[in-house]
Amino acid sequence: MSNSRRAKSIRLETKPKPRQRRVPDGVAMESFLIHGPQFSEKWDFKHHVIPPMSSSVTYRLEDTERGGQGFKEYASGDAHRTHPIYIYDRLDEPTRGMLEDELAGVEGGDNCTCFATGMAAISAALGVALRAGDELIAHKTLYGCTYSLITNWYPKLNISNKLIDLRDIAALERAITSKTRAVYFESPVNPTMELIDIEAVAQVVERANAKRKEGEKIYIIVDNTFATPFCQRPLSLGAHIVVHSLTKNIGGFGTDMGGAVIAPHELEGQMLLYRKDFGGALAPKSAWPILVYGLPTLPLRLKRQQESAYAVARFLRGHPRVKRVAYPGLEDFSQFALAKKQMRDLHGEFAPGNMIYFETIEKGADPVNCIKVVDWIAKNGYALTLAVSLGQLRSLIENPGAMTHAALPPEKRLESGIAPNGIRLSIGIEHPDDIIRDLERGLALAE
Ligand SMILES: Cc1ncc(COP(=O)(O)O)c(C=O)c1O
Repeated sequence: MSNSRRAKSIRLETKPKPRQRRVPDGVAMESFLIHGPQFSEKWDFKHHVIPPMSSSVTYRLEDTERGGQGFKEYASGDAHRTHPIYIYDRLDEPTRGMLEDELAGVEGGDNCTCFATGMAAISAALGVALRAGDELIAHKTLYGCTYSLITNWYPKLNISNKLIDLRDIAALERAITSKTRAVYFESPVNPTMELIDIEAVAQVVERANAKRKEGEKIYIIVDNTFATPFCQRPLSLGAHIVVHSLTKNIGGFGTDMGGAVIAPHELEGQMLLYRKDFGGALAPKSAWPILVYGLPTLPLRLKRQQESAYAVARFLRGHPRVKRVAYPGLEDFSQFALAKKQMRDLHGEFAPGNMIYFETIEKGADPVNCIKVVDWIAKNGYALTLAVSLGQLRSLIENPGAMTHAALPPEKRLESGIAPNGIRLSIGIEHPDDIIRDLERGLALAE
């Protein structure tokens, strides 16, 4: 790719383009997540009450000129979908497009592009931001597959990485070099629940970007899967790009996989080009339940889940077989002040989310008690299910060291704070007493 082409493709606008208005004036976000934009070329509001699920791989074109124009736009990397020309599902299609408009609206971003999974979305965000020879700075603790993507695959493409502790802002300042093109992290971090101060990262990156030419600027990319836009909107705190696994809290019912990238205006064409060429588009049949069931119920589910999570976290904190509990809503959480600053719901209330991490007390180096507790719950628990994934109606329990984060080598897991006796909980919408009873009975076996 020539320099001029590259400069065009990853330039950060100094003057932001006027944002397309998605949320009608005066409408609360909860209502927007149910009704979407008032008018859309993607949906005939006069007839359907529920947005339709489209299922058409290809689209009738009125004439060759219109078909040619659509192809030219998607191939140029400059496409902007204010007036979409539908040609072929992988390029763009209306059910997914409606979901994208709502996700962009709730995250406060210019546009959204949806993918088949969260990993496809993360690959696309990084794929658009980075080129061979670039360097990526990321927090040292990451979801296992993201860690594997960055450490196994990107070095083969000559994209290097520095995995540092992004809670240490001075370390970020030291780590940035002329080759740095992206800073990537989750907050809260999966599974340890550490928080990264998004505003503080943005200040450092802004200072670095002020000295850089267009095309050499650094993107801040935040995986907002744990918090969801209900609990935290990273773009309002200075991040440039947000990624999601829609499979989790946003989908919310555990029936469909999906991923999303919310990006600035100037990257829309690149995101569409990436999806066109690498594939991995979200199927409209999977976009539909996320649009019709997931997003509209997100505030209700999260409110209920975080109330229960607080009750569960308090129970665990007082338990004699529990070594430590990490839940941003606990008053003695090590980053409680930061949690209160950046985890805020759509009305500005404190919103610490539905995820908990805790460690059992062990007599020796082996996680004997941890395995006993989790295995007892797997066989006998009622409200808790041993399963990976998160953000569903059902509460889920898992051991990240052995499961979701097994891709990290053991020494890296320890460095990342993922202890062999660590347990991750995703709190569902059951009555909290039933979740606590399962934990109480399981923990009773610990010695
Ligand atoms: C924080 C986070 N990001 C990304 C992903 C990947 O999402 P998906 O499984 O939809 O590819 C996961 C999956 O667990 C996750 O927990």
